[in-house]
Amino acid sequence: MIDEDQPVCLCFDVSRRKVIQFIRTQKPTTASQLSECFGAGTGCGWCRPYLKQLWASHHPESETLPDAADYADGRRRHRREQKDQ
Ligand code: FES
Repeated sequence: MIDEDQPVCLCFDVSRRKVIQFIRTQKPTTASQLSECFGAGTGCGWCRPYLKQLWASHHPESETLPDAADYADGRRRHRREQKDQ
């Protein structure tokens, strides 16, 4: 089951619903323009591949993201790695 309210960008708490609506209404021509959607992708950067996946899809509503807990864990690792550099 797809949770429409699952945050894609955890830094700015931007849900997939908001991102998909932005894609539908604003028709961004590059994935990076999703930053105009409540700052999505402009924090730690973890969500950028997923934002890109939604942006590139013809049917973003049916794109699956990792399970929310795994997704949050992945971001924690990502941020730890960033700090270690
Ligand atoms: S989760 Fe989106 S920028 Fe950090």
